[in-house]
Amino acid sequence: MPELPDPFSEPFGTIFAPSVATATNMGQGYDYQGVTPLAELRLHPGAHALHYGSTCFEGLKAHRQQDGSVAIFRLADHVARFAQSAETLRLPFPEEEVVRQMIIDSVSANLGHTPQSPGSLYIRPTLLGIEANIGAAAAPSKHALLYILNSPVGDYFAGGVRPLTLLVQTELPRTTPQFGKVKSGANYVMALGPTLEAKADHAADQVLFAPGGDITETGAANFFMIDDQRIITRNLDDSFLHGITRESVLTIAGELGYAVEERELSLEEVKAWCPDGEIFLSGTAAVVAPVGKLIVDGETVRVGDGQPGENTLRVRQVLTDIQVGAEADSHSWLLSVSG
Ligand SMILES: Cc1ncc(COP(=O)(O)O)c(C=O)c1O
Repeated sequence: MPELPDPFSEPFGTIFAPSVATATNMGQGYDYQGVTPLAELRLHPGAHALHYGSTCFEGLKAHRQQDGSVAIFRLADHVARFAQSAETLRLPFPEEEVVRQMIIDSVSANLGHTPQSPGSLYIRPTLLGIEANIGAAAAPSKHALLYILNSPVGDYFAGGVRPLTLLVQTELPRTTPQFGKVKSGANYVMALGPTLEAKADHAADQVLFAPGGDITETGAANFFMIDDQRIITRNLDDSFLHGITRESVLTIAGELGYAVEERELSLEEVKAWCPDGEIFLSGTAAVVAPVGKLIVDGETVRVGDGQPGENTLRVRQVLTDIQVGAEADSHSWLLSVSG
């Protein structure tokens, strides 16, 4: 097994495990080629994805369990969301069962590269429209390439669990309304300019997109408010990504006895929440990440005492305990993978 760099000393997503599962569809249905060594892709320069953006992806994790085995977290839910993204982009998609098996096969081949907790093996299923046709701006790609890339990871936010600073963006949405719940690269590149400006001008970690004061999500995670009694997050609609961690967090919080509120959330309400409440972000990469400060119209609003709050850390602990088998998996979120 080749030695890979320590994922905690390299940026998230820059180390790649040596095996990839690949399937192609050249117009006659998908052909699964199995697991092969990681290698560069050969694509026709006229590939649809390169010109018309017909590409989407997923992000999920395999966790090393306390007993040394490895398990994938919420596999079926991620594959279902992937299928939905593919449908919006009008890309052919295999039977979900095939994609689940491809993911299991990739993790099985890269089992030895799954770091100990709090590290994990980040799994990046990727789908590209590869039909060579630069006249197909208004036609779908009939050909597609699907591959499952694995990356051993440490912390998403450099510095581990620390209070984040969010710049609240009220003028721009993260993406277009009909693409909010699609996990497509175009969404991220749309958020890039505002995110870079927020970093450069305000030393912010992330942008909280709240067009017209309507709180949605950040560039890569969902938004929550919590205190000793309640947990509040934006109700689902097409404007933002339906996070699977979001759903896990709501389930866990409900079981811990918090009253769960999914509803519209205004910037005014968030500001009023800050002195006494807690705020955090959730995502596969972000896990549960405490927020210490919001920057609103150039003004800094501290969240509580600016440090990670105890309710946030409690929810985070239960989630991460379930992920590594330290707490009962009562919802069957884990799928064990062997080598
Ligand atoms: C824009 C955006 N929102 C929310 C999330 C959280 O989704 P999940 O919890 O399924 O990872 C992600 C990350 O994957 C994301 O990229």
